[in-house]
Amino acid sequence: MTLDVVILAAGQGTRMRSSLPKVLHRLAGKPMVRHVLDTARGLEAEGIHVVIGHGADHLREVLADAEVRFAVQSEQKGTGHAVAQAMVDGVGKGKVLVLYGDVPLIRRDTLVSLLEGVDERHMALLTVTLDEPTGYGRLLRNAAGEAVAIVEQKDASQAELAIRECNTGIMAMTATQLRRWLPQLSADNAQGEYYLTDVIAVAAAEGVKIATVHPAMTMEVEGVNNRAQMARLERAHQREIAERLMVEGVALLDPDRLDVRGSLSCGHDVEIDVGCVFEGEVELGEGVRIGPHCVIRDSHIGAGTVVEAHSVIDGAVVAGLNRIGPFARLRPGSRLAVGAKVGNFVETKNVEVGEGSKINHLSYVGDARLGRDVNVGAGTITCNYDGANKHRTEIGDDAFIGSNTALVAPVSIGEGATIGAGSTISKDVADYALAVARGRQVSRPDWPRPIKDKHH
Ligand code: UD1
Ligand code: CA
Repeated sequence: MTLDVVILAAGQGTRMRSSLPKVLHRLAGKPMVRHVLDTARGLEAEGIHVVIGHGADHLREVLADAEVRFAVQSEQKGTGHAVAQAMVDGVGKGKVLVLYGDVPLIRRDTLVSLLEGVDERHMALLTVTLDEPTGYGRLLRNAAGEAVAIVEQKDASQAELAIRECNTGIMAMTATQLRRWLPQLSADNAQGEYYLTDVIAVAAAEGVKIATVHPAMTMEVEGVNNRAQMARLERAHQREIAERLMVEGVALLDPDRLDVRGSLSCGHDVEIDVGCVFEGEVELGEGVRIGPHCVIRDSHIGAGTVVEAHSVIDGAVVAGLNRIGPFARLRPGSRLAVGAKVGNFVETKNVEVGEGSKINHLSYVGDARLGRDVNVGAGTITCNYDGANKHRTEIGDDAFIGSNTALVAPVSIGEGATIGAGSTISKDVADYALAVARGRQVSRPDWPRPIKDKHH
């Protein structure tokens, strides 16, 4: 049987108190609805349908690159009404899975087992038993223990409120069943809405069996209604990522103080100190050590590298055995060969740094290529921008750039060349030459120091 997934995302999320539609709020750096979408994609569905309403244009924009069909629910008349909007738009004849844009951590494995038993005589419902079930729809079972109906919190009797088995909202059935059942829903209830949950009673009355499946972790079915829940889910999710990394052999100095917003892959014996943030795709080679409070985005850090505290690394490729920071900033296009060093208060951008070269203190090096074993002194600046265009700086192997040098690009410094400290270099320097470009020091041993005028 084919599969269509319907993701409900029309609600406003009033309790977030935000102009951003709720499902676009980010969990682990990614909009919640994207998490759901990515999981749905893993099921190889024929079609993915997103029901939009509040903030519809914004959702279309954010999901423009995703292969989804949008169904617009202009008025939020309930979850049953929402699913019905998607059913008019090209849902096939196979199974239909209903997911929620604000329940971001649902897992593929759970959904696979939910979908397993679905056919014309069986549907499936994901339920969870909670100690604190307030707010959830409760599952009613008959004497034989079969699921027969869901009653919403606002419609439940005292006895029903005592039931702890809750509806997660996630369910699966065939499109044929859904097409037959949806028109039978009524809005005659406490909220005046068409409840999707009422299809359970309709199914049971028809003699269709309702299989109940439970998630591996409660976190999978937790919905986000406010920012406190959002923050709790974020921490729970991050903790799970941390656990996974530790199983893979990563030493986390505090698993509760790590944030991964993307994918982080690590070799053996990687050590990560507290407060680090990893964004996009980051790879850390074997034995890499990351000091406290570093931010690393879309970068590859080669084996044996040490990144010291408070470094920010973005779009960089670092070969291995490098030493970076503390307080270094590597911007996109920074490529360090084996053993190169970038020290404190150094900014690099679009630069190749050769093997063993050092930029240890207080420098800006951009649009440049450094050979091997170059020594860049403290306070060196590549003046790469003339106000209109960017220009390149080339520095040969073994060159020595004295402290406080301005390299006015385009300029090239030869192999083994030496630049005297404090120079402003605007012409090329030949191999092995010494270039000094600064005011000459003048000394006057007999200079009379001014004395204060007595009349004032
Ligand atoms: C729903 C279930 C409840 C379940 C709970 C789990 C119903 C009637 N109730 O309750 O049994 O325990 O989820 O969290 O289904 N939405 C639309 N269009 C609408 C209404 C809702 O797209 O017209 C979307 C919302 O944006 C939201 C989701 O559907 O993402 C759930 O709607 P909500 O009103 O929050 O349902 P609950 O009261 O939480
Ligand atoms: Ca809800």
